Amino acid sequence: MNMAMKKGPQKLTPPSWGTEESISYMRFVQPVLDKYCGKCHQDPENEAYKKLNMVCRPSTHGWWGNVMSRPNDSSPFCEPYYTMVTGACPWGGPKKRDEHNVPANIAGLFIVEGYGTTDPANLATLPPYSAFSPVSRLIHNACSGEHHDVKVTGEDRERLIAWVDCNGPYLGDEEIRQMYDPDHYSVNNIPPVRPRIATAPIINRFDINQEGDSEKVAGVPLKLFNNEPCDAEIVSAVYGANDKFVDVTQQVKKAYSGKRITQLGMYNNLAGDPIVNVIKTLKVTFKYKDGSTKTAVFQENTPMVVPAK
Ligand code: HEC
Repeated sequence: MNMAMKKGPQKLTPPSWGTEESISYMRFVQPVLDKYCGKCHQDPENEAYKKLNMVCRPSTHGWWGNVMSRPNDSSPFCEPYYTMVTGACPWGGPKKRDEHNVPANIAGLFIVEGYGTTDPANLATLPPYSAFSPVSRLIHNACSGEHHDVKVTGEDRERLIAWVDCNGPYLGDEEIRQMYDPDHYSVNNIPPVRPRIATAPIINRFDINQEGDSEKVAGVPLKLFNNEPCDAEIVSAVYGANDKFVDVTQQVKKAYSGKRITQLGMYNNLAGDPIVNVIKTLKVTFKYKDGSTKTAVFQENTPMVVPAK
């Protein structure tokens, strides 16, 4: 029996920020970077900035179209978050490994999508200390005192480490509850479990009682996106995959609600099925009041969101 076992179970010590706050990038990481790293990593003249720009700004990576209800954004993420947690990691595909043989990333996270899905070697148990704060380049540079005399200490250090050891969540509970409840034909018609976000009940994990009508459990009406009218017109629309696209301009024009978001339902019902058993896309060109145009691509059966000009 070792020392720790002889001592018996110990009470957990809550972190300095208490037990009510959830962990997110914007609350736990960016303020620490601004405070300790900005003088080099946010100064365009500095070599550090060229190596890793830590100015908080929208990312252009990480999504395949417009972000629902935020039509100006092409990514739900910000930088430097995206750069620190990924290294252009393909979904389910292999990527460059670091010296600990895990998919390489500055934050030291464990990137599930960085492993190929067909190689049995990827199912092997990782040796201890392969990922997270003990081997994180971010934590090392921030806290070791060995990186250009920077030393993050106290609660700032604790917050940075907690974020890495929770595998780098972008949004926490507080941010997620700012999102609208989902409004889509596929979720509106599966009672009694109606998915909720903004109005999701706060579950006491020691008294879980989630079955039944989610509306009753939540006790508040849904909070849905206010779908504004918009003045874009549809110029053309094609639907298909690979090199097989059919013209569906007339059908999409007819279905278009004239609002920011149109629920098109099952695309095959709208347009027929140009290629069976293949996930298809709908490409729509919109024309704005000032004569400019923009083309947006929607994955099969997703709502059509008119991009901002
Ligand atoms: C006094 C200037 C200075 C400060 C302050 C500074 N850095 Fe750096 N950092 C650099 C320079 C210069 C480089 C590029 C050369 C190198 O790696 O040392 C760099 C590189 C890095 C890299 C490597 C990026 C890559 O792609 O390899 C990371 C990670 C990093 N810094 C993290 C931090 C963090 C986190 C902080 C704040 C807690 C910080 N740095 C504060 C000067 C600084």
